[in-house]
Amino acid sequence: MRIVCIGGGPAGLYFALLMKKLHPDHSITVVERNKPYDTFGWGVVFSDATMEAMKIWDPKTAAEIQSAFNHWDDIELQFKGQRIRTTGHGFVGIGRKKLLNILQARCEELGVELTFEREVNSDLEFADADLIIASDGVNSRLRERYREVFQPDFVVRPNRYIWLGTHKLFDAFTFDFRKTEHGWFQAHIYKFDNETSTFIVETTEETYKAHGLDTLGQEDSITFCEKLFAETLCGAKLMTNARHQRGSQWLNFNRLICGRWSHFNGHSHVVLMGDAAHTAHFAIGSGTKLAIDDAIELARQFDRLGHDKDRIPAVLADYEEIRRVDVARIQNAARNAMEWFEVVGERYADALEPEQFMYSMLTRSQRISHENLRLRDKAWLEDYERWFAKKADLDVSEATRPAPPVFTPYQARGVTLINRVVVSPMAMYSAVDGVPGDFHLVHLGARALGGAGLVFAEMTCVSPDARITPGCLGLWNDAQQAGWKRIVDFIHANSGAKVGVQLGHAGRKGSTRVAWEGIDQPLDEGGWPLISASALPYLPHSQIPKAMDRDTMERVKADFVAATRRAAEAGADWLEFHAAHGYLMSAFLSPLTNIRNDEYGGDHAGRARYPLEVFRAMRKAWPADRPMSVRLSCHDWVETGNTPEDAAIFAAMFKEAGADLIDCSSGQVSKAERPIYGRLFQTPFADKIRNEVGISTIAVGAISDADQANSVIAAGRADLCAVARPHLADPAWALHEAAKMGLTNIPWPKQYWSGKSQYETNLARAATAPAK
Ligand SMILES: Cc1cc2nc3c(=O)[nH]c(=O)nc-3n(C[C@H](O)[C@H](O)[C@H](O)COP(=O)(O)OP(=O)(O)OC[C@H]3O[C@@H](n4cnc5c(N)ncnc54)[C@H](O)[C@@H]3O)c2cc1C
Ligand SMILES: Cc1cc2nc3c(=O)[nH]c(=O)nc-3n(C[C@H](O)[C@H](O)[C@H](O)COP(=O)(O)O)c2cc1C
Repeated sequence: MRIVCIGGGPAGLYFALLMKKLHPDHSITVVERNKPYDTFGWGVVFSDATMEAMKIWDPKTAAEIQSAFNHWDDIELQFKGQRIRTTGHGFVGIGRKKLLNILQARCEELGVELTFEREVNSDLEFADADLIIASDGVNSRLRERYREVFQPDFVVRPNRYIWLGTHKLFDAFTFDFRKTEHGWFQAHIYKFDNETSTFIVETTEETYKAHGLDTLGQEDSITFCEKLFAETLCGAKLMTNARHQRGSQWLNFNRLICGRWSHFNGHSHVVLMGDAAHTAHFAIGSGTKLAIDDAIELARQFDRLGHDKDRIPAVLADYEEIRRVDVARIQNAARNAMEWFEVVGERYADALEPEQFMYSMLTRSQRISHENLRLRDKAWLEDYERWFAKKADLDVSEATRPAPPVFTPYQARGVTLINRVVVSPMAMYSAVDGVPGDFHLVHLGARALGGAGLVFAEMTCVSPDARITPGCLGLWNDAQQAGWKRIVDFIHANSGAKVGVQLGHAGRKGSTRVAWEGIDQPLDEGGWPLISASALPYLPHSQIPKAMDRDTMERVKADFVAATRRAAEAGADWLEFHAAHGYLMSAFLSPLTNIRNDEYGGDHAGRARYPLEVFRAMRKAWPADRPMSVRLSCHDWVETGNTPEDAAIFAAMFKEAGADLIDCSSGQVSKAERPIYGRLFQTPFADKIRNEVGISTIAVGAISDADQANSVIAAGRADLCAVARPHLADPAWALHEAAKMGLTNIPWPKQYWSGKSQYETNLARAATAPAK
């Protein structure tokens, strides 16, 4: 085969040498526009996994790279006058020039033809090639030539960065945050050879412009950075890589995803590789790793399927399929980390203390969990747990193991939860005439005995016509109140849990069948008339609701207030106002469901007017020493619907009206929604609202173990974690999760003590048993 790699970066060079090594008969050329040894940038970092793969595919380059590596374990934060350091993180760094030199030399040794100082304008310059590798970097000319085919999706990110170097040597991966009169700057610093460290300075567009950096020349930019980071640099100078545009200017990071990676141009197959196909933000330092992994995978596919020309289409198809998965995974993690650095000034830097700021930074990609941090640096993590536990008013001695964050108490007004696990509200559709009966006593009682700090019952409806289904719970008469009191009394007498009541009105989603007979499907008989913000049905065949008039608003408000009083009299500890999931209050908040043109529609203030009016009336009726939360759909997942930005505006309004926490859910407002599910997928909403609005939050959604919950709480992304479906699978989820973490001092109900010790013993045995 005749193979031409356009672009002699890590991707093109490494692929060329692997293919030549695997099949010396191939004629392989790498064409690079720069001179040899002439490159932008400073150092790059690698992961252990990529190094392992390189050792297998070409031990010689791997050994040379490894001997040129600078290895370091520590991460250091410099922030608000403090230096905090953790260890066990394991990075390797190498100068980009050094890396390319090793790859170039190996190419030459194996017989790859290297052509320098040739600018390629088109793939058609190599009509004799069977395979053309478009390894020409993020601004790939080849990709742009066939943009219809490759469908590049470019997003220009808002932050500005400049990639500099310095001769001051740093022995840890150092992050340095500095505040100016216009905002925050951060430096990402690491040593990559015996003389030089990479020094990337980043800030927001606004701060960049406010300092006039857009009008300053390169030298003045450097002087500015030297002054700003003088304390860290200790007199050392910063240097640019002036010969290259990417090395010398303030840039925006471009996030790139391509719809397709290969194309037949009539003569040759053209395939994208490395930065030409995808980019990953430097916040997790994976660009070079991805380029190398691409090269390995394409070579592996040739090795597997054969080195003949006719195998090329099959090889390219498998290469793309396999690499897409890994690239998407890394891009996801890189996106989280990148977004963290984009909002750090506005969201965390002023709000968090250095200890928590460090934790938040370390877990920014959401790939590193609490227990993962323990594996890396147990002493640091336990110190942090101690710091966190002290903040939660726990008496922590150095001798005892501190309670991990999710098992620390939480106080809201006069109520203290024994831990931060919440049984999320879940409709059970098992009430008769809205009365909580034996099922609810056993269901909620079991979850209270199961160790959660707060047990929410399902959405409880404020009137018969407020119900979703005939099986929903209610709180509009004495029988219901008595049923509630029986449950509350049982839980208070037999567990440490507090009881939460979530009051709601189904609005346009009412008068439907119980879930197992067809969720959201209208009742065939025995239904009731519906009301909503506007006369829009939920499903095309749903009943059309009546848009509420002022009299109905008064009536419904009075129902909410009456139910609030009943909940207080029944002894509930916590009240949640259900303003999510497309039910009545949510229907007012969302522009998808509220098209009113009176004062209860329109802008945020208009759409929130009625829900706030009801909430304020409830707050007055609810005892002042008991907390109230508000559940919001923080994202409608529909283009024209509410977004997390809108949710933050509503959260601020509810905060002002006396809400103590926002319970951050999403969706279920419109059937047109396109939610993006995944681990902790709604936690970013809780994070945003907590740290931008300054109100406590409950995170919910795909939190499946205490490790995840710990990292959410410890990083200050939320104050409580609500766990729904896992509690249906395991009523004692909280106790079991504690036991899995080896916490033996979490109290079990005394009746269950013998089960506790057996459970713990079995877990300990399983942990030490040899793998089968
Ligand atoms: C500030 C910053 C920091 C980074 N830090 C890291 C890090 O720490 N770790 C990490 O792994 N990655 C890092 N990267 C990313 C890394 O630089 C790239 O992801 C990696 O170099 C991709 O390799 P590549 O071979 O695909 O592309 P490139 O390295 O961009 O190579 C492309 C080559 O093609 C050549 N070329 C382009 N067009 C033509 C043409 N028309 N004709 C001939 N030649 C052409 C270019 O001169 C270049 O040599 C960083 C990037 C930036 C911007
Ligand atoms: C069976 C079931 C019923 C639910 N009923 C309610 C409800 O009454 N009120 C509410 O706000 N959310 C309700 N939800 C949503 C959950 O409270 C929770 O937000 C959602 O299930 C995501 O959490 P998870 O991933 O831990 O399950 C319900 C969820 C389930 C699975």
